[in-house]
Amino acid sequence: MNKYIQFHRRSIVDPEGFWGEEAQHIDWRTPFSKVLDYSRPPFARWFVGGETNLCYNAIDRHLPARGDQPALVWISTEVEAKKTYTYRQLHEEVCSVAAMLQSLGVKRGDRVIIYMPMIPEAAFAMLACARLGAIHSVVFGGFASANLAARIDDAKPVIMITADGGSRIGKVLLYKPLVDESLKLAKHPPEKVLVFKRGLDPDMPFVPDRDFDWAALARNVSGRDIACQWLESNDPSYILYTSGTTGKPKGVQRDVGGHMVALASSMRRIFCGEAGETMFTTSDIGWVVGHSYIIYGPLIAGMTTIMYEGVPLRPDPGIWWQIVQDHKVAVMFSAPTAIRTLKKQDPAHRAKYDLSCLKHLFLAGEPLDKPTHDWITRTLACPVVDNYWQTETGWPLLSAQPGVEMTHVKSGSPSFPVFGYDVRLLDETSGKEVAAGEKGVVAIKPPLPPGCMSTVWGDDQRFIDTYFRGFEDQLVYTTFDFGVRDEDGYYYILGRTDDVINVAGHRLGTREIEEAASMHPGVAECAVVGVTDQLKGQLPLAFAVVKEPASIASAEERMKLEGEVMQMVDKQLGAIGRPKRVFFVSALPKTRSGKVLRRSIQALAEGRDPGDLATIEDLSALEQIRECLRTARMT
Ligand code: PRX
Repeated sequence: MNKYIQFHRRSIVDPEGFWGEEAQHIDWRTPFSKVLDYSRPPFARWFVGGETNLCYNAIDRHLPARGDQPALVWISTEVEAKKTYTYRQLHEEVCSVAAMLQSLGVKRGDRVIIYMPMIPEAAFAMLACARLGAIHSVVFGGFASANLAARIDDAKPVIMITADGGSRIGKVLLYKPLVDESLKLAKHPPEKVLVFKRGLDPDMPFVPDRDFDWAALARNVSGRDIACQWLESNDPSYILYTSGTTGKPKGVQRDVGGHMVALASSMRRIFCGEAGETMFTTSDIGWVVGHSYIIYGPLIAGMTTIMYEGVPLRPDPGIWWQIVQDHKVAVMFSAPTAIRTLKKQDPAHRAKYDLSCLKHLFLAGEPLDKPTHDWITRTLACPVVDNYWQTETGWPLLSAQPGVEMTHVKSGSPSFPVFGYDVRLLDETSGKEVAAGEKGVVAIKPPLPPGCMSTVWGDDQRFIDTYFRGFEDQLVYTTFDFGVRDEDGYYYILGRTDDVINVAGHRLGTREIEEAASMHPGVAECAVVGVTDQLKGQLPLAFAVVKEPASIASAEERMKLEGEVMQMVDKQLGAIGRPKRVFFVSALPKTRSGKVLRRSIQALAEGRDPGDLATIEDLSALEQIRECLRTARMT
């Protein structure tokens, strides 16, 4: 472990020397004059004065050596299609979209919301924004109109880019009507919408003078070469909204230079991805894993990246292994839920394929349980690397780093702090570092390394208040995750300290679901908790107080209302937030100061002791919850 220890130590004791060297793996138009400016804690400015461009580093610089190498392979098992773009073709497509955006008035610093399914045009749109110095904000296609509207109002985009629709498990999901609805709900709707028609919605609504047809614009601009805008390293590259304790999503803002250097380093030292090799990341571009490891990371590294539209079980549960074999995937990145799903399938689906090309499988986004870790390691015969990180960090913060040294893997553990991260485990109340075997909050001593969020979009104070005020008398970044370290220094993540839940690796705020459910006119109040689920990690459960008790007098009425509340969540937030059950109670368990005791509700739902109830206002409220769960046989 010596090599890793020395590598990590140097990154902490000599960050400027360390990152100054790592920064040589990307191309700079103008060299930086200072590696780190930390004169205004906790804001870290990396590679000050350096000028560069993300799209240039992801595409243009590879053209001389790898112009004819596949850069992006799109595989859709939803619409039965496959397309390969070489670096040269990707360059042409991205220039074409950049020209389209320019013709629509998009300039450096403008925000562009991208709400698209997993199609190559989504990647072109992201890279085109990067080329122009426009700030993209990709919104996950599973989010519904109200959620989209909240993001529009925060980012105030000049344009939105969307498609007529997507497809999931063979069912068409219309995007454009959701966009139209979100524009009605938003207070700051953009004036223009660029629409890519896939032919999934013959009746797609089209608003003249506001909506622009992608194909028609593309014809006008074809063949144009659009120059990269050289940006200062600390200019924003993108905003990605994520959930927290409040219902208001936080815009995680990332810079240009630090982001690129961190991704380039992670590709070499964690993912071991070499130029010319293929990487297959099964996430979605709407999530941070998609940003970092479907699009930017592998392209910066000169790899071929696979973009997959579909699910792991269709047309059969061997599809991902088939992709690995056929495309000689060297690096694969997925999430534990997907692996748990595959684990339940007939092993013959795996056995059919030769997976000897695979060097590593990386898993992240939610806790990787030991049985799943053991099973997939046996199944693949290559190291399976659990890595822990967040939208905020943009790249792994705890992980084995096989590109530095292949350390022993312990199942269920994301191993050690990644270089650049000064990780501390702090006692939740005293803020003191805990000993091995003791639970603490995973925290990072700032400055945060390159690649981590620079601030909350438009709200520096919220950045400080949310992430750096967890402990009195010390300035540390709080991850909001509990963890523990064993005697050998291996970390284990124990779950969130706040009201964020993780459903199949998708991060959701219980507050967002509560707000969506409370939009139902019959609901007075609602509490949502995440309960353990064997397959998806966690599932939301809702407990609602109705305005009119008579509205749920009969079992039929209760069932009807439960369905309506679920539909309301689908409509407001998206089906990914839909509670598994909605139970009706006459009161929610609260402290005397009015705070809902979510942790106690969650404990009951998971069959655990609800904890210290000294502060509870009304014990019978908790009893009602116990009774609901008992009747539904959930405990
Ligand atoms: O609770 C942790 C969990 O997912 C949260 C971050 O989610 P998100 O912002 O969507 O970013 C995902 C990037 C991979 C974390 O605060 N989490 C993520 N990875 C792991 C994890 N929990 C346990 N083990 C992991 N490997």
